[in-house]
Amino acid sequence: MNIIENKLYVGEIPASDVVKKFGTPVYVYDEDVIRYKYRELAESISYPKLKIFYAAKANANKKILQILREEKAGISAASIGEILVALNAGFKPNQIMLASPSLTNQEMKFAISKKILINIDSVSQLERYGKLNPRSNVSIRINHAVKSSKHVLSGPDTQFGIWAGNLDQAISAADAYNLNIVGLHHNVGTELLDAKDYINSIDVLLAVAKSFKNLDFINFGGGIGVPYLPDQTPLDINKLGEKISSILKRFAINYGKDLLFVFEPGRYLVAESGVLLCSVNAVKTTPKHTFVSVNTGFNHLLRPALYGSYHPIVNINNVESKNKEKIVVSGNLSDSADLFTASKQGIKDRELPSVKNNDVLAIMMAGAYGYSMSSNYNMHPRPAEILVSGKKMSVIRPAEKIHDLMQEDN
Ligand SMILES: Cc1ncc(COP(=O)(O)O)c(C=O)c1O
Repeated sequence: MNIIENKLYVGEIPASDVVKKFGTPVYVYDEDVIRYKYRELAESISYPKLKIFYAAKANANKKILQILREEKAGISAASIGEILVALNAGFKPNQIMLASPSLTNQEMKFAISKKILINIDSVSQLERYGKLNPRSNVSIRINHAVKSSKHVLSGPDTQFGIWAGNLDQAISAADAYNLNIVGLHHNVGTELLDAKDYINSIDVLLAVAKSFKNLDFINFGGGIGVPYLPDQTPLDINKLGEKISSILKRFAINYGKDLLFVFEPGRYLVAESGVLLCSVNAVKTTPKHTFVSVNTGFNHLLRPALYGSYHPIVNINNVESKNKEKIVVSGNLSDSADLFTASKQGIKDRELPSVKNNDVLAIMMAGAYGYSMSSNYNMHPRPAEILVSGKKMSVIRPAEKIHDLMQEDN
């Protein structure tokens, strides 16, 4: 996103031109940003046998998947739906991995029939998998307590992966069905902005990996953060990549094999590419707050209401005004949680350039876990998704229509 003469641009297009053409609410993504982020990460790690599997849950739009396929990414899928979109987008089965804490036999059979590798998440999943596909290769997802400063997805309070202390049970189950453990996987957190956290998690998985003798690959999951808050510092990705490369090279030499190392970023690749544009429908005050109500809600962007996440918000035609006031940006849902300026503790004023009716606001950094977590709550259709490629705009998913939500009589 660029700011030119106080106006917001997506790629080379003023955000106001997108609004003129497509109205609001609308999701808009900048293709160049996605490609830039992929290349920045891929080029930062010099270890030669490296693969980046984009975590499609962050944004599963087929066109975005195609862009990342062109960049040579693979796909980390969380469901059969994400596998189908990836196949549709042209990925080969060996470029897709599946990880889910709860899979039915039918879902596993589907992955097996397509020759898609599953990162097995529990001993019971491993046993069921063994019955369905004995004498095959598997990967297992490990849950170990990794110290980290942010959004931990590992340790005894998380439901993902096989607890490191129970690995003996996993090995026995694998032996019982002649399964060959060729891959190890973990995903320890998200929004990690401290390089030490990431390095530490890699060290922890590599320490476990030493005792597995038939590995072909090790998958370190996603979790690389982006700075949402104005005072957050982005990771120095080149420095991190250099450090990771030297750790991986040393490990591969000691292991005695050119192992494949995999990373599965979601947010890092797409968060900064996207904005949700919305229009102001009402401004009103109470003795405590000025509320600015926009024509979208947590049905379209859930993160602030669900996690108290911070998304920068700008007035697209008045980005840098010095004339600021404290406001609360609220949505159009009939639900008290429907606030875009909220912290974990609830409602939070934000200082923004003054806003009036019909102004268009951009909720920034909405490319990851935005559309992919959207719903039809309150029977609102989902907005369109638009891709900006330099000076070109294209619809990469049309807006739903009210009619799509109606249950027709049989
Ligand atoms: C297995 C797995 N891989 C990758 C990711 C992507 O995480 P992030 O978007 O933080 O990079 C997730 C997110 O939940 C995940 O569960």
